[in-house]
Amino acid sequence: MKIILAPMEGVIDHHMRHALASVGGYDACVTEFLRITDQRLPERVFKRMSPELAHSGQTATGVPVILQLLGGDAEMMAMNAQQAVHLGAPAIDINFGCPSRFVTRKMGGSVLLREPERVHAIVAAVRKAVDASIPVTAKMRLGYEDDSLALDNALAIQSAGAAALTVHARTKVEGYGPPARWEALAPLREALTIPLIANGDIRSLDDYQRCVAASGCEDVMLGRGALINPGLARQIKQHHHGEVSAPMDWSDISALILALCEQMQGQYPQRTVVMRIKQWLGMLRKHHAEGQRVFDEVRQMRVLADIKAVLGLRQYSINQG
Ligand SMILES: Cc1cc2nc3c(=O)[nH]c(=O)nc-3n(C[C@H](O)[C@H](O)[C@H](O)COP(=O)(O)O)c2cc1C
Repeated sequence: MKIILAPMEGVIDHHMRHALASVGGYDACVTEFLRITDQRLPERVFKRMSPELAHSGQTATGVPVILQLLGGDAEMMAMNAQQAVHLGAPAIDINFGCPSRFVTRKMGGSVLLREPERVHAIVAAVRKAVDASIPVTAKMRLGYEDDSLALDNALAIQSAGAAALTVHARTKVEGYGPPARWEALAPLREALTIPLIANGDIRSLDDYQRCVAASGCEDVMLGRGALINPGLARQIKQHHHGEVSAPMDWSDISALILALCEQMQGQYPQRTVVMRIKQWLGMLRKHHAEGQRVFDEVRQMRVLADIKAVLGLRQYSINQG
């Protein structure tokens, strides 16, 4: 059973990957997408997206970081995949899920799901371009307007040589709104021979179990659930191994946020770090009463040291009981 940390542009960068992977439970992470248009991107662009390339393509705790590419030109995608592998990417993921209008105008992401033969051509070109030892995977939604081509796209990806497929169980049109339709993954699971990784709205152990029951997929990718519930991957793994499992408590979550502050401090302007911490707290507050209290206290603060003091204080008072 595998658990993958989802790509999330502007939210899960290498700092967040480091923080979340350090908790345990993840088998791999995927970078935010690198948009490929009509040229081979310079080395620095790959290295900025995945600083882990300088460390054998792994997080500090040894979790492989798959590099994600997005684009509709098979030849350009292949050339850039080669470059990514040359720079040390342990695997390549191809994005067929991004709903953004800007992206779709450039013909990458979910709009390609209208044309399974193009999806096939892109995966096949990337597969052919990199060494056979490098896994090429893909991530898609159920479709663009509807699910009618879900199976065609999944089979196109498999027959092009993908090692695994992640499906976010919504169409592009559904955006992030209605609940993910895990049951719509079941026919794909039955038809495919490669691992099918279920994705969408898994935020608790109970969600995981309901997703497995509905989709037949044991492997999952966690995005927002990983941020809201940072111990979720570890908890699912512990449960899977028959061990006692519990969600992370607020004291440990505070320690994780403080560790993220330490990591980012000095590398970025203070306002960037403050914005990132508030962004994470903004997600955590919806699921943790303590998170809401901390968020309310820090929301007007601009000085990182003040925010750290609040986080440290809350951590301390919880530890004291
Ligand atoms: C802010 C944001 C950024 C995202 N960026 C990417 C991305 O770069 N590549 C990608 O394949 N999916 C991206 N996604 C989709 C997520 O990886 C995931 O498929 C989706 O959020 C559903 O899973 P979840 O409910 O576990 O979050 C993004 C989603 C969000 C909300």
